Amino acid sequence: MRVFEALAAACEELTRHAVVNSRVDAEILLAQSLGKTRSSLLAHYRDEIDESLGRVFFARVGERCRGKPLQYILGQQEFRGLLFEVSPAVFIPRPETEFVVEAALEHLAEGGVELADVGTGSGCLAVSLAVALPRARVWATDLSEAALEVAGRNAARHGVERKITFLQGDLLKPLIPRMGEGQLDAVVSNPPYVGPEELSGLQKEVRDWEPRLALVGEEGAPSLYARLLSQAHVRLKPGGVLIMEIGYSMQEAVCGLLGGGWDLLGVTDDLNGIPRVVSARRV
Ligand SMILES: C[S@@+](CC[C@H](N)C(=O)[O-])C[C@H]1O[C@@H](n2cnc3c(N)ncnc32)[C@H](O)[C@@H]1O
Repeated sequence: MRVFEALAAACEELTRHAVVNSRVDAEILLAQSLGKTRSSLLAHYRDEIDESLGRVFFARVGERCRGKPLQYILGQQEFRGLLFEVSPAVFIPRPETEFVVEAALEHLAEGGVELADVGTGSGCLAVSLAVALPRARVWATDLSEAALEVAGRNAARHGVERKITFLQGDLLKPLIPRMGEGQLDAVVSNPPYVGPEELSGLQKEVRDWEPRLALVGEEGAPSLYARLLSQAHVRLKPGGVLIMEIGYSMQEAVCGLLGGGWDLLGVTDDLNGIPRVVSARRV
């Protein structure tokens, strides 16, 4: 089978399974299976495909047809220009989460070095901050051991493994035996914020493949944000900042939790104009 024939067959199969952007996905999967770049496929349009590589390609197309996100098939996702390993053990980093890093870099006081990333998942926030801030020391927590393993590999991949301590446990509790109160300069978090009632309305790629713990968590968003705020207040220095991603239409509820112990620094909209990141300073 030639390259153009394989692409046409895959495209047809993906379209039949209602995969959006079937052509793009087919090209990306074929390029990966052949070890080429997507743009170089054009130059090899009439090349015959090695039979075993063709089998690998159609197996991947089959996975995509069953709803597996492209990123899990490729095993990677870009975040702020860095490539992160991803697997079904971790939430796939989203472009809107890059605003959490931008807000942290904007609001972190000069010289601030002690940071925590709560619910680190793939480690995209912890690693990006460790790369961007040469003197940073990051504590990254997650309930999921499997996620922490992926995050650890991502830290090593980007050469910041000695700047990040990965800890298993709930929110900021794993820091308790390791540091006193009022020591952190910043806490960042993209916590699970999907309501259990919203799950059935999600795209099947998300609902059926991404970790439920990353989407819904164990307790529901209102309680989790409230606990995060109270733990962060104890662990942050006065003047330290808390940067949290929030879900659709959660701005009022989350900002309403701030109370007297915090100054609201701002709410950042994502590229769709949806309020996405809440930044607050500990009084
Ligand atoms: C939405 S994902 C975010 C992952 C990553 N920070 C990102 O932005 O792509 C939420 C993460 O929080 C973790 N998590 C859920 N509940 C937690 C808790 N109580 N304490 C610590 N981590 C938690 C999940 O395992 C998951 O990795």
